[in-house]
Amino acid sequence: MDKAWGGRFTEGTAAIVEAMNASVGFDQILALEDIAGSIAHSRMLAAVSLMTADEQRQIEDGLVAMAAEIRAGTFTWSVQREDVHMNVEGALADRIGRVAGKLHTARSRNDQVALDLRLWLRRELTALGHDLSRAVVQLTTLADAHAEVPMPGYTHLQRAQPITFGHHLSAWAVMLSRDIDRLVDARRRVAVSPLGSGALAGTPLPIDRQRVARELELPNLTLNSLDGVADRDGALETLAVLSILMVHVSRIAEELVLWTSQEFGFIELSDAFCTGSSLMPQKKNPDIPELLRGKAGRVFGALQALLTLMKGLPLAYNKDMQEDKEPLFDAMATARQCVAILPDLLAAMKVRPERMRAALEDGFLLATDLADYLVDKGVPFREAHHIVGAVVGHCVLTRTRLEALSLDEYRRLSDHFDSDLTPVLDARRSLERRSLTGGPAPAAVRQSLVEIRERAAELVTILGSGGPSALERALARGEPLPPPLP
Ligand code: ARG
Repeated sequence: MDKAWGGRFTEGTAAIVEAMNASVGFDQILALEDIAGSIAHSRMLAAVSLMTADEQRQIEDGLVAMAAEIRAGTFTWSVQREDVHMNVEGALADRIGRVAGKLHTARSRNDQVALDLRLWLRRELTALGHDLSRAVVQLTTLADAHAEVPMPGYTHLQRAQPITFGHHLSAWAVMLSRDIDRLVDARRRVAVSPLGSGALAGTPLPIDRQRVARELELPNLTLNSLDGVADRDGALETLAVLSILMVHVSRIAEELVLWTSQEFGFIELSDAFCTGSSLMPQKKNPDIPELLRGKAGRVFGALQALLTLMKGLPLAYNKDMQEDKEPLFDAMATARQCVAILPDLLAAMKVRPERMRAALEDGFLLATDLADYLVDKGVPFREAHHIVGAVVGHCVLTRTRLEALSLDEYRRLSDHFDSDLTPVLDARRSLERRSLTGGPAPAAVRQSLVEIRERAAELVTILGSGGPSALERALARGEPLPPPLP
């Protein structure tokens, strides 16, 4: 088959080269973005008289018909045509003939792929943001329902101070809301049109870059044609955002794994999210949280791959950059799958408040409250810490609990202890007194949840605009396209 660039060549491509060079196996993911970009480009070319209205109509109709085949999965991709861009253009020529050759006027695959990636990133970041907001809302609902369920809070995975299960779930909700914030931010920088950068040095043809950008609802233009084709910051930034998100997902997953163990027994996962062992009949394994934890590795790997790929590349486009796609696509699909499964996984878990309460009994979780009690009596905190340390030491030695010591025993260690000590040794009271903003007191948790939900709703509103253009949305759904700009 004749190559689009075949003019200066006399020999064909070696088969083994064809296989390495081709990207259509993976970049066909960009097909609808590629077509949207081409339609916008052709509309502009007609507006500036680089093609006639009739030629533009033929091109647009052909592209729309191909989009339908791509959506239906009946489009035939060709490795000889190398990548998604030349597949689309080649198939258009098969369909409408010579006039298809006008589509590539004032455009290079270099600015074309840069545009396609930006449109794809904008679409995917928007969708991921919506998925994440569902997870956040689900978490706030669960947190609210468990705002009064006491459990130990941990540092170093050692029982530390009383919190509630709702407080812990609310922490997960804020972690994930920050991820939405970050991806909204990344999306803003992605929504810039590089079209017109050409291969690297723009074009002398009288094109209208603004018009293409407006057609695709991209608020800004790239400001340097070298950078326009050489920049992959949007992909890098997205992978960084996804990596941080996956840190959060993996931390949530790890706690689910821990809590379902017999050692903790704080929760039970629904059978629908677990599997058994082929050997040990009694096993019910938390496979899904384990996979959520493990999948973080792929996403971090993708970020590392792209950083390494881009490092030290001279301007402008280099073929190395074709290697950006597989890690990016895989990382996005992975993150979206993980985030999509979270709400159902969480909704189906069974909480065991009695196990959480039992875990509060041992571990001297109210030791800090005792020290704060002494501080209230005027003892400097460092001294109070020392005294309570001695109380705990005594309890360890005599195998007893803070609540079981008599006032006399307390007074033997410090005469600041008094008859008003008893309520201090109550976990519920300890919780309720930690009512500062962000604290574990049920009222404070509920107050935070109101704010977390408000912020999530704001972010959903922001996500609602600034996503894929009307042109892209119509193409994706197979609906009639909006008319060209006047
Ligand atoms: N398939 C290529 C990529 O993804 C498209 C750009 C190719 N440009 C070129 N001059 N070979 O990077």
